[in-house]
Amino acid sequence: MADRYPLSWPADPVRWLSPAGCLTAWVAESGGAVAGHVCVVGGVSDPAVAGARDLATVSRLFVAPTARGRNLGESLLATATAYAADQSLQLMLDVVDYGGPAVALYERLGWRLIDRRPANWTAPDGTRLPVRVYLAPNGRDASAPD
Ligand SMILES: CC(C)(COP(=O)(O)OP(=O)(O)OC[C@H]1O[C@@H](n2cnc3c(N)ncnc32)[C@H](O)[C@@H]1OP(=O)(O)O)[C@@H](O)C(=O)NCCC(=O)NCCS
Repeated sequence: MADRYPLSWPADPVRWLSPAGCLTAWVAESGGAVAGHVCVVGGVSDPAVAGARDLATVSRLFVAPTARGRNLGESLLATATAYAADQSLQLMLDVVDYGGPAVALYERLGWRLIDRRPANWTAPDGTRLPVRVYLAPNGRDASAPD
């Protein structure tokens, strides 16, 4: 995949697309071909949203480089967000903090930055890259007042 996503090409890409806990997934099509993907992973916990019940993450969001800039990413994210709302899931995500288009997209759509931390996985060079953690619009972190 272009532009560093995923940072390490998985040994089994199909398995990578359906991580443990994957509740559901969608693809976007362009010209009859798959051009993007997103999934929602449930049963997660995170210290930045301690006490949150039914927490889920957006995962494996990408759009093929040739199909970008046509709102497919926004549509995939909106679909995942609508699913989470329907299932009463609180949705979050993390993203590598290198100033790529994903951060711009999340912030444009109102996702709220709630933490910055080292990734819980290692890059090919063994380092833990900084990630940003976002909560979906209307989501509440533990520190938010009632
Ligand atoms: C993040 C990503 C999914 C966005 O997909 P997309 O379909 O291009 O998203 P959208 O079209 O809805 O919005 C992309 C933004 O780039 C702008 N854009 C315009 N032309 C563009 C082009 N040719 N290429 C990329 N972006 C373009 C869009 O207007 C929009 O602007 P804004 O959000 O800064 O206001 C895509 O860039 C991607 O797959 N990146 C690599 C994987 C990745 O980082 N995934 C996130 C992991 S957490």
